[in-house]
This record gives sequence, C-alpha cells and structure tokens, in this order.
Amino acid sequence: MTEKRPSTVLLGGPGGPRVLGFGGVCRIQVFAAIFPLLLSAAVFGARAENDFGLVQPLVTMEQLLWVSGRQIGSVDTFRIPLITATPQGTLLAFAEARKMSTSDEGAKFIALRRSIDQGSTWSPTAFIVDDGETPDGLNLGAVKQREPRKGRLIVCGHGTLERDGVFCLLSDDHGASWRYGSGVSGIPYGQPKRENDFNPDECQPYELPDGSVVINARNQNNYHCHCRIVLRSYDACDTLRPRDVTFDPELVDPVVAAGAVATSSGIVFFSNPAHPEYRVNLTLRWSFSNGTSWRKETVQLWPGPSGYSSLAALEGSVGGKNQAPQLFVLYEKGRNHYTESISLAKVSVYGTL
Ligand SMILES: *[C@@H]1O[C@H](CO)[C@@H](O)[C@H](O)[C@H]1NC(C)=O
Ligand SMILES: *[C@@H]1O[C@H](CO)[C@@H](O)[C@H](O)[C@H]1NC(C)=O
Repeated sequence: MTEKRPSTVLLGGPGGPRVLGFGGVCRIQVFAAIFPLLLSAAVFGARAENDFGLVQPLVTMEQLLWVSGRQIGSVDTFRIPLITATPQGTLLAFAEARKMSTSDEGAKFIALRRSIDQGSTWSPTAFIVDDGETPDGLNLGAVKQREPRKGRLIVCGHGTLERDGVFCLLSDDHGASWRYGSGVSGIPYGQPKRENDFNPDECQPYELPDGSVVINARNQNNYHCHCRIVLRSYDACDTLRPRDVTFDPELVDPVVAAGAVATSSGIVFFSNPAHPEYRVNLTLRWSFSNGTSWRKETVQLWPGPSGYSSLAALEGSVGGKNQAPQLFVLYEKGRNHYTESISLAKVSVYGTL
C-alpha cells in the first residue's frame, strides 16, 4: 500500500498547533510510547497579531540530521521525518530507523534528536522505541487550542481496508484515553482501490484561527487530480462530512506525505515535492487565507529527489527572549534517491537573520 506514515498528534506549542503522526491502527503502540514525551508540551499559547505584511520566508540554515546507509547505528535507512516544538521551544525531530532495508515492512527503531537552541545543534540520536522484528510504521498529529474543543488532542491517520480512508483519534483528557472520531472512507469502501478511486491516505491536521480543523491528505489514487485532498471539520473532528471534502488544485502532489502547519497569527505553511508525478522539487508554500489560496512566491528547498516532509514553527518567546518566528522543515532528501538522508531546513519567516 503506502509507506505508512504514522498518523498525527496535535501539540499546543508556544504558537499554533503541532502534529506528530503515526500510521494506521497498528501504529498506536508506537504512538503510545512517544506520546508521553510530548504531552508536557500541550500548553496553549496566546495568538499573535496578524503579521502577514512581514512574511518573506528565507532559508537561513540547513543540515542533515540522519544519513542512510548503515553509518549511524548500523541502520539501513532513515525515513518518515516528523518534527515538533515544545512550549519551552525545544525542537524534537523523529524518524523511522529501518534496520534492514528501505522497505515499509520490517523491523524499526524510532530515532529522536533534540535541539534546545532553535536548531543550531542537535543531541546524538536516541533510539527511543524498538519494535524488534515487528513490521510497523510512524506518523504525526495536532493539539487543539481553541473552542469548540480547546485542549483536545487529535491524531489522524489512514487505515487498513477494515477501517478504510482517513480517520482521527481524539483525546479530551490530555492523552489518558482515546476514542475514534469520525473518518472519511475511501470509495469503494473496504475494497482494493484502483487508479482514480477516492482513497484519502496519510494526512496532516492543523487548526485554523476559527477553531476549525483542516486535514490535508495524500490522494493515494489521484482521484479528481494529481493534487491534495483537503478535509475540514468544524467540531474538532467529532464529524467529518463529505460536503467538507475538497481538492486543492494549487497543491500539485506526486502522492506523498506532506507537511502543514498554521502559525498562531494564521499563516498556513505547506511543504511537499511540488510535482504531479515524481518526488522531486521540495517546495514551501504559504497562505494568508486559511489555506484557500496560496501565495505566488514559493521557496524551493531542494530541486532534486525529495519525499516526505514535516513542519514545525517556533514563535514568540524562546528561552525568555522574544524572537521573530522560525519555521523548521524536516524532509527526505537525496541526490539520486530521496531515501538517502533526512535534512532539516530552518526558515526565517520574516526573512531576517
Ligand atoms: C517546482 O515547484 C515550483 C512551485 O510549484 C514550480 O514553479 C517549479 O516549476 C517546479 N520545478 C520543477 C523542476 O518542477
Ligand atoms: C481566516 O479565518 C479567520 C477566522 O475564521 C477569519 O477571521 C479570516 O477572515 C479568514 N481569512 C480569510 C482570508 O478568509
């Protein structure tokens, strides 16, 4: 099927919602292992004023966090990057460390590195979860921050044929208990899909200023377009209605897990390999209209092979100092193939150094 990005966990950081994701239902174990690390991050920051006039994204730093090829802990391949920021401004970067091969199937660790200086330096890799020999996957979610369900944790993922399509797990008690929210099924339901069937897959939720939740999803079988499926929920993912399913033709996509995050002031960022067929041309876009349209200017992070990506924003006070917002893009990058490394780009949202 797909590469199995774990679904997602929303965390309230100093700014907007964050998402850490895990893949389908069987991924919940891994999620449970990582989640406590992140839960302390779930505080809800104040919203910044509209700063759209200042936005001029500029890459100020880039470094490889993981390199495949049995150079780090004998790990064959690092894939499936996830990044989030805690309210204290610590960055946490995760990846699947696939022990034996590049395959989605097969034993993995979850690799973690931390940065307490806004991405300048990173801790050595810690292998925080070891699934032994179990075939498994990893993925990222989002916290709620505003009414109607302030404080709710939302993790969305894609299912197996038994739980077809995109569905969300919800927690209103800071992660102590979880239940299924609604989902949007694939068509035909519970059947293997063919090209052009409706088959929403790996996804990233984020919260808009009005408290609604957008889920930006992989369009596995290119239904309607070679572009992203966009779902929206007005009740914090209690329900997802078919009438709130749209497609975003501006977000051309080669069928991949993409990054999306909204800042506290309402800028929506999106990252993917911007190509209708191939995983190349990792591109950052931003929107001042809640993701209904995208700015004409873009930032190309890497023209070559590039795959999954994940976004986190650091805003407001970091280490007691007020600073301009920074965006972090963690993405799969290579010269010949996108599984060669996982790279971190730091982007100054206002274009200042
Ligand atoms: C990369 O994506 C940007 C934004 O869509 C587009 O303008 C550019 O033509 C793309 N480049 C390639 C090589 O596909
Ligand atoms: C984005 O959403 C907010 C909150 O609902 C709203 O106030 C604002 O006008 C929206 N922006 C646009 C351009 O639609």
